[in-house]
Amino acid sequence: MSARPAAATARPTALPDAVPDGAPGLDTTLTEFLIGEQRKFPGATGEFTALVNDLRLACKRIANVVGKGSLAGRSGKTGTINVQGEEQANLDVLANDMFVRTFLRGGTLAAMVSEEIDDVMLIPADQPRGRYLLAFDPLDGSSNIDVNVSVGSIFSVLVDPDRDAAVDAKAFLQPGRQQVCAGYAIYGPTTMLVLSFGRGVHGFTLDREIGEFILTHPGMQVAPETSEFAINASNSRFWEPAVTRYVDECLAGSSGPRGRDFNMRWVASLVAEAHRILLRGGVFLYPRDDRASARRGKLRLLYEANPIGFLIEQAGGRATNGERPILEVTPSALHQRTGFVFGSRSEVERIEAYHRDHNTRPYDAPLFRARGLFRDVASQG
Ligand code: AHG
Ligand code: MN
Ligand code: MN
Repeated sequence: MSARPAAATARPTALPDAVPDGAPGLDTTLTEFLIGEQRKFPGATGEFTALVNDLRLACKRIANVVGKGSLAGRSGKTGTINVQGEEQANLDVLANDMFVRTFLRGGTLAAMVSEEIDDVMLIPADQPRGRYLLAFDPLDGSSNIDVNVSVGSIFSVLVDPDRDAAVDAKAFLQPGRQQVCAGYAIYGPTTMLVLSFGRGVHGFTLDREIGEFILTHPGMQVAPETSEFAINASNSRFWEPAVTRYVDECLAGSSGPRGRDFNMRWVASLVAEAHRILLRGGVFLYPRDDRASARRGKLRLLYEANPIGFLIEQAGGRATNGERPILEVTPSALHQRTGFVFGSRSEVERIEAYHRDHNTRPYDAPLFRARGLFRDVASQG
């Protein structure tokens, strides 16, 4: 005889308690996370969620090629020079194409800016125009690519300030504080996507077998104190006094004014350095210096310093150009370079104080702008 209850007593089945969030193989996916975020905004149209889905797709496409290494037949240089005056690697160009191709038909963007493209790239008129602007570095740390060291992609999302006007460079020249989303993908031993929508920083690890990013690092926080710094010391003879003082004091270790020993790292991949600092603290310096090519710094404000600065601030750290928070700088050019210092709060504050004590060269003085009396050659690149 069947023990089935009579139909009249049947009730809707509650979801089983036996499958809690985070059970093995059932962790929160990026898709679930995005749906949860979208629900916090009842009027949301889903356009922002669609944009993040395309970011995920672009990064998965790049991860796939980067992960194949030499097997993909894409190693080496193209023999071409980008708008920065830097030699392009084949993978720089391919990664750029992957971003462009992914977003061209997505309907979420009005325009894009990339390290590898001279000017603003408009979404073609025959495609739907979205409400966002995307600035990206398709492959960061690309000098590491042929030696199998971590590289990444960096992205910054802004709102198109005037949806009725044609997008021009000016639309992108917004202080980093106005970013609505920033993040990076790191292509290392594992591929991770680290994102912020302005409500904390969350890290997702790509599970290659199911092809989905899994929330593995919710609420990432930069440790407030650190004894680890990162700088390219081969440029030390060109540094400003504030930077020399800071590094000298770290190197003096327990017998110097800091009274403790420091450790040093340099990966030459901004994404990898930012990732390490998000995970275990540290401070990164790529200051402006006296080389003609770095009078204004080396890293690019729109698609390197701003998105990384946004993540670091969202994770409780600090990011500056030496003089003021990087996110407060109003950009004046698409490919503008900047000095950049970020990481654990107490060390960044110390470096800012040293800049106040020792700075001899103005940061944004008209005399040092491109058309200033003292023409600054580096501001051209
Ligand atoms: P990209 O590969 O996108 O041009 O960026 C390289 C950047 C950055 O990732 C890194 O912090 C820095 O260049 C390294 O510069 P040096 O080679 O001067 O150390
Ligand atoms: Mn870069
Ligand atoms: Mn790059």
